[in-house]
Amino acid sequence: MDEIKNKFWAIGGGKGGVGKSIVTLMIGASLAKLGNKVMIVDADLGGSNLHTLVGIRYPKNTLADFISKKVETIDEVIMDTPVENMKIICGADDILGMANPKYTQKTRLLNHLKRLDADFILLDLGAGTSFTTIDFFLYAPNKIVVLTPQITSIQNAYGFIKASLFRCLNDIFSKEDRALELIKRLSSPVNGEGIDSVAKLCDEFKALGEQQQESLLNCINSLNIKLIVNMVKDTKEKNVGNIVRSVAKNYLGLTIEDLGVVQFDNILNTSINNMAEFLTKRRDSMASVHFYDIASNIIKSCQRSSSGSLALDAPKISA
Ligand SMILES: Nc1ncnc2c1ncn2[C@@H]1O[C@H](COP(=O)(O)OP(=O)(O)OP(=O)(O)O)[C@@H](O)[C@H]1O
Ligand SMILES: [Mg+2]
Repeated sequence: MDEIKNKFWAIGGGKGGVGKSIVTLMIGASLAKLGNKVMIVDADLGGSNLHTLVGIRYPKNTLADFISKKVETIDEVIMDTPVENMKIICGADDILGMANPKYTQKTRLLNHLKRLDADFILLDLGAGTSFTTIDFFLYAPNKIVVLTPQITSIQNAYGFIKASLFRCLNDIFSKEDRALELIKRLSSPVNGEGIDSVAKLCDEFKALGEQQQESLLNCINSLNIKLIVNMVKDTKEKNVGNIVRSVAKNYLGLTIEDLGVVQFDNILNTSINNMAEFLTKRRDSMASVHFYDIASNIIKSCQRSSSGSLALDAPKISA
C-alpha cells in the first residue's frame, strides 16, 4: 500500500505555461539520477508535448494506442529517454475526443499504470480544470500544484485546488441530496444563503449525522497537495505560495505544504529546444539544483509516509 501511496505524483496547476511539464521532467530526471526507476507520463491528453522535451519527435507508440486498444498493455507504449532510469509514456492528441476519455478508458489506464515497474510515476497534467485533468489529479495520492508569481497563475492555482476539492466532495456525496445541496451553497452562494467556508460547511453537516461529517473531514484530509513556485525572479516572489496556502486553509480547510521554489533560469529557458543535451550535459543551471532539492524533499516525504506519519488513500475517480 505504501508503495502505491508513494509511487504516484500528479503535477497540475490550472494555468498553461507555468512549467508543469518542465517540473515533471526535471523532478523525474533528478529522482532517476538519485537511483530511482522513474516513469514520466504525459497525461495532457489534449496538448501533449512532454516527448518533445526529451527529444522524441514522432513517438512510435502513444497513450492513444493504449486507450484505443491498438496495443493491449501499457508496456508497449513505454519509450526510453536520454536520462538513464527514466522512461516516458508519450501523450495522445491525435485522436478526436482523446482529451476526454470515457470512465472505463480512464480506469483501464490507471489500473495499468498502477502495475508499472517504477519507483515513481509522474503524471504531467494539462492546463485548465477539465474533469479528466482533475480526475487524474485526484487519483494520485500525491498532488503537486505548480504556480508562478504572476497574479493570474496564483488565481488559477487556487481555482484548480478548489475545483479538485469540489469534484472530490461531489463524488463522495453523489447520492446524498442534502449533502450536495450544502456543498452547492459553498461552491456558488445564491440569495445570501451561501456557506462561506469549509469550516461552516462542517458545522452544517452536523445535522446530517456523524458519519457524513466524518466523510467530509476524510475527504478534506485526503487531499495531500504540495506547492512548487516556479520561475521565481527575486526573494519577494518566493513567498507567493503563502497566499495560496493561507486562502486554501481559511476557506477550504486544506493544509497545503511547500515543496520548494525554482528560480527563473535563463540557461533552462534557452535550452528548451535541446533539453536532451540540457538533461545530460549542463551542470551550470540553478534551476537544476532547485529541482534536486525538490526531489530530495519528495524522497523524504515518502520516507515519512512509509513510517506511518501520513495517511493518504487515493480517492476513487468518477465517471
Ligand atoms: N524554472 C524555469 N526557468 C526558466 N524558464 C522556465 C522555467 N520553467 C519553465 N520555463 C519556461 O516556461 C515554458 C513553459 O513550460 P512548460 O511547457 O513546462 O509549461 P506547462 O505548464 O507544461 O504548459 P502547458 O499548460 O501548455 O502544458 C518552458 O518552455 C520554458 O521556456
Ligand atoms: Mg505541459
